[in-house]
This record gives sequence, structure tokens and C-alpha cells, in this order.
Amino acid sequence: MNNLLKPQFANDNRKSSFKKILSFVKLDHIPGPRGFRYIQSVREFQKNILNAFTQTYLDYGHIASFPWPMNSIIIYSPEYIKKVLVDDNRNYIKGEQIEEIKAVVGNGLATNNDHQSWLKARAAISKQFNKNAVNSFTEEISSIADNFFGEAKNSDLDICEQMKLLTFKIACQVFLGGDLSHKDAMKVNDAVEFTSIVTYERIFKFFPLPYWVPTPTHLEFSQHYKNLIHVVNKLISRSSAKDSSILSKLLFAKDDNGQKAFTEKEARDEILTIMLASHETSAHTLTWFFGLIAKHQDIQERIYQEVLNQDQELNDQNYPELFNALYETMRLYPAFPVLSRKAKKKSVLGDYHIPKNTNVVIPIYVLQRAQEFWERPLEFEPQRFQDRELLKSYKYLPYSRGPRRCVGELFAMTEMAIIIKSLILKFHFNLLDKDLPQDEAFVSLKPKDGLPVKLLLR
Ligand code: HEM
Repeated sequence: MNNLLKPQFANDNRKSSFKKILSFVKLDHIPGPRGFRYIQSVREFQKNILNAFTQTYLDYGHIASFPWPMNSIIIYSPEYIKKVLVDDNRNYIKGEQIEEIKAVVGNGLATNNDHQSWLKARAAISKQFNKNAVNSFTEEISSIADNFFGEAKNSDLDICEQMKLLTFKIACQVFLGGDLSHKDAMKVNDAVEFTSIVTYERIFKFFPLPYWVPTPTHLEFSQHYKNLIHVVNKLISRSSAKDSSILSKLLFAKDDNGQKAFTEKEARDEILTIMLASHETSAHTLTWFFGLIAKHQDIQERIYQEVLNQDQELNDQNYPELFNALYETMRLYPAFPVLSRKAKKKSVLGDYHIPKNTNVVIPIYVLQRAQEFWERPLEFEPQRFQDRELLKSYKYLPYSRGPRRCVGELFAMTEMAIIIKSLILKFHFNLLDKDLPQDEAFVSLKPKDGLPVKLLLR
């Protein structure tokens, strides 16, 4: 067996706790909690991160600092956000948490901070998710969505669980290829879920234990990681240039000089990145979408009439009711509620000097729900997106902005629109509970304990 194809355990990429405790960034000149209030705030973040980000905004406005040991600023101003994500993007690299995610996906697109190799990979991967490429997947996605509920019948179910199963089925087919056995698909599902949870929890620990300490969680992580690598390696060894999966396309992709764009190890990192980055993002967005239209029956009816009477390319020109509701869903429930970066060099935001190594945190969830930027911010009002300029504004960033914005945006929007069209033509959605469940930021933004709905056949 080729060395690259041998299963290997996750490297412990995290810089040592010792090094972390020694890094000190001077941030006292930026307002924020200090002394006992600082400790109280950190506890609030550990209890409910979304409430804590909202409270920090209400207390301090557009910028707040959390000096050592967090070495962080939190920004809430569209102007600062544009500077960090776009104008000065070469200075604001991906934040420290990518070190944790690297334990699973190595140096894939989302975790790569080396500009030259990232640029090359981004160019090759963008081609796999451009309009033509996405169009080539629509039939496959439609067919999976149309057949998902089998013999359609009235039922009460957790739409969150169902959307996770459906989008995972699509991910296996499109990203990994139809060759995957059910047993291997389940291994991938369990591994992606478990490793996402562990890496996410480690991001919030001040001093996470190295992976080589044999705790039960680390041993389980190691087993899942080995399963994941084993399955992907098996697919790599079987792949051919004729396959239509993204994995095969990456393995046989050529760069501008006609050379292989990715080695096998690089292609594996990229496919794991894509599996992780797309894991649950579309599923949770769809969950909130169906919950919101179940609550707002008038909007559901308008979308139903639109998809019933329209049979053209699925885009926001042809299906404004559907897409406006999807944009509005992502305003209230962005799958990644918080973005982050780290300053490579010293810089300036407004009147503030930002020292080298400052962690910059951008809670888009708070911005997208702030009274300061939106009328009736907590209401579900899809018609506000009739003004398409909103999609370009820096108060609305569900897919981020700048060169590191989501490379799978078109794929995700198309996939979600196909699923919505397929399901809404078949079923009428009602909430089983009185209201929508509490949201929770855990890996991505999800309903705390699922979202039960009643599906009635149309
Ligand atoms: C509703 C669905 C999705 C949402 C809301 C979403 C959101 C995001 C966001 C906010 C980022 C940027 C993070 C940052 O700036 O730090 C991102 C990056 C990324 N996303 Fe998505 N995503 C979604 C679906 C997908 C899908 C389906 C794929 C794969 C096909 C994907 C692949 C990626 C990759 C590879 C990156 C890293 C890009 C880079 O750093 O160059 N995403 N996504």
C-alpha cells in the first residue's frame, strides 16, 4: 500500500497550552469588561455564547476587547468587518481555532493559512462548484430529494433529523461518489459528527489536553478518525478519471501548467474539508426554513403557489418568494453564527490600534439581528430581500465575504432550493409545538432539541 494511503492518526496541531498562556496582546486601550466583570463575561460565554455576544454588543457597541488570556476583540460594525474580511484580508488570516480543525482535515482549503498554496487550491476547487459544475449535479440532487420520503404519507417527525439524513445522502453521492456502501456511509457519518463535536468543544477550552493523552474521548476520536481515513483511502484507490464525484475530479484535476493539482493526501484533506464544511450547514438552514414557513402559513402558501406555477431554472430571479424566504432564514439563523480571524501584523480599525496576534471575532448572528441595522429585526419578513442590495451589505454575511468566503455557496443555495421545491410540492408543513425551538450554537446553529413538524400530504 502506498504510504499516503496508510491510515494515520490526527496530528496534534494545537500549539501547546504553555505557549498559549505565554502569548500576551495589549488590548487595554479598547473598551471591554475587566477584573471580576471579565471573569463573569467568560462564564456567560461558556453558558450561552449567543446571549453573551449579544450582551457584549449592548454593553460596548461596535468593538469590545477581552485582553489576556483571550487576546481577542469582538467587532460588530459593518465598516470594521469589511476592513477585516476584504480590504485588509491578507493581514487577517484564519483564527487560532483552525489548528483544532486541522486535526481532522489537515491543510484543506478552510484551514490553510499559506496564501500561495491556498490560492492554488481555491482556484481548483472553485471550478468544481461553479455554475456549470453545480448544474451538472441538479438532476442527481432532485432525484434523491424526490425519493427521500419514499411512499409519501402524513407524518409527525423531527425535520432536523430528516434534513441531516437527506443532505448527508446527497453529500455522499456528489462528493464521494455512488460507490459508497451503506456501512461505509454510516462510518463516515458517525466520524464526521463525532470529530466535529470534539474539535468544536476543544476550541472553547482554554487548555485542551493533547490527543496523545488516552482519555475515552481521545480513544474514540482516534477510532472514528481511522474509520474516516480508511473509507476515503478506499475510495481514492478505486477512483477513475471517468467518475463524476468531486473526490475523483480533485484527484484528476490539472493546474494551469497541466500538472496534477492535488496529491492524494491533498485531495483527501480537501474532500474531508468539504464534508466537514458542508456537514449540517445546509441541513440546519433547511430545518429553520421549514420551521419558519410552518409558523408563517401565508408565506408557505405563497412559496407553494410559486413552485406550482413555475418551472424554470431555480434562481432568485425566477423564484423570488422561495429565495427571499431562504435569505431571510439565513439572516435569522446563519449556519456559522460567528466568524474569526487573527491579525498577522499590527493594524488599525477606526480609531483603534490593533496589535499583532489579536484574535478578531465577528458574531454575524448579532449583527443580522440588531435593531441598529434592521427594521423589526426579530420578525421573519422575507419581502425585505426584494431589495437585493442587502445581499451585498456588510450587515448580512451568512456565507462570509472576501476571498475566504464560502466556496460552496452556489452549491448550497441550489441544493436547498431543489429540496424545498421537492418537499413543498408534496407536503404542507405545520409546527407540532406552539413556537419554534430555542437556537443553540453548537458546531453550527441548530434547534436545541430538534424541530418537530407535522407533514400533511397535499
Ligand atoms: C447553508 C450552507 C452553508 C453555509 C451557511 C456556509 C457558510 C460558510 C462560511 C460563513 C464560510 C467562511 C468562513 C470564514 O469566513 O471564516 C464558509 C467557508 C467554506 N465553505 Fe461553506 N457554507 C455552507 C455550505 C457549504 C458547502 C455545501 C460546501 C461544499 C460544497 C462548503 C464549503 C466551504 C469551504 C471549503 C469553505 C472554506 C473556503 C476557504 O477558506 O477558501 N460550504 N462557508
